[in-house]
Parts: sequence; structure tokens; C-alpha cells
Amino acid sequence: MVKCGLTSREVEIPEPGDFVVKAVEVRNASVLITRGKDRVICAFHNVCSHRASTVEWQEQGASSIFTCSYHVWTYDLDGKLRSVLAQANFPALDKAKCALTPIAYGVWNDLTFINLDPQPA
Ligand code: FES
Repeated sequence: MVKCGLTSREVEIPEPGDFVVKAVEVRNASVLITRGKDRVICAFHNVCSHRASTVEWQEQGASSIFTCSYHVWTYDLDGKLRSVLAQANFPALDKAKCALTPIAYGVWNDLTFINLDPQPA
């Protein structure tokens, strides 16, 4: 089973808000890699925590938020769920538990690697 892979070069996302989306075809996964306001890189499964729609459809860009086009849940660059449309319809929703699912990553010589194992060694 392939769990690791080269996803991008760090220079692809030099500024806060820059992002890339990479397909990991052998795992049928889409990975969203962002550079946060604090300049820290984060990687997430590109899957909405509501009903698993794709969050970001562009392959590369810059944004301050990510908005799922299905029911308009909005996420911060660090993956936290920022807002929910018609939140009154979700009285038991704990937004802190609905962040994008993080993916382990590492940077080596400007190359970003991910590990899709939920608990990488
Ligand atoms: S599936 Fe993303 S907001 Fe509903």
C-alpha cells in the first residue's frame, strides 16, 4: 500500500493563502496543501466534513478561505470550520470537531511529502 508521496514544491505556495491541490491517484485521494497566515504549510484531505464533497476544485491559487460549493461550509487556511450556512439547522454541531482532516507532511530540500496514514510512524 502506498501511503507516502511527493506532492509539491514549497515554492509553489510562497505566500500566505497560496494553495495547491494534488491528486494521489493510487489512493484515489485529493490533497489540499495551504500556506497559512502564519506562513506554516498545512495539508488536508480535500473533502468537506459535512457530506464529503470536494472543497477546492482549482489546482492552484490563493485564498483566505475555502468554501465547499455544496452547502457552503467555509474553512480557514488552517482547516478549521469557520462558518456554516443556516447554522440554526445544526443545533448540535460542534464546529471544533468538523475541521478538514489533516494529513501528515514534511518538507525536505524544498520538496513537500505527505503521508496518508492517519497515524504515521
Ligand atoms: S458537503 Fe460541503 S457543505 Fe455540505
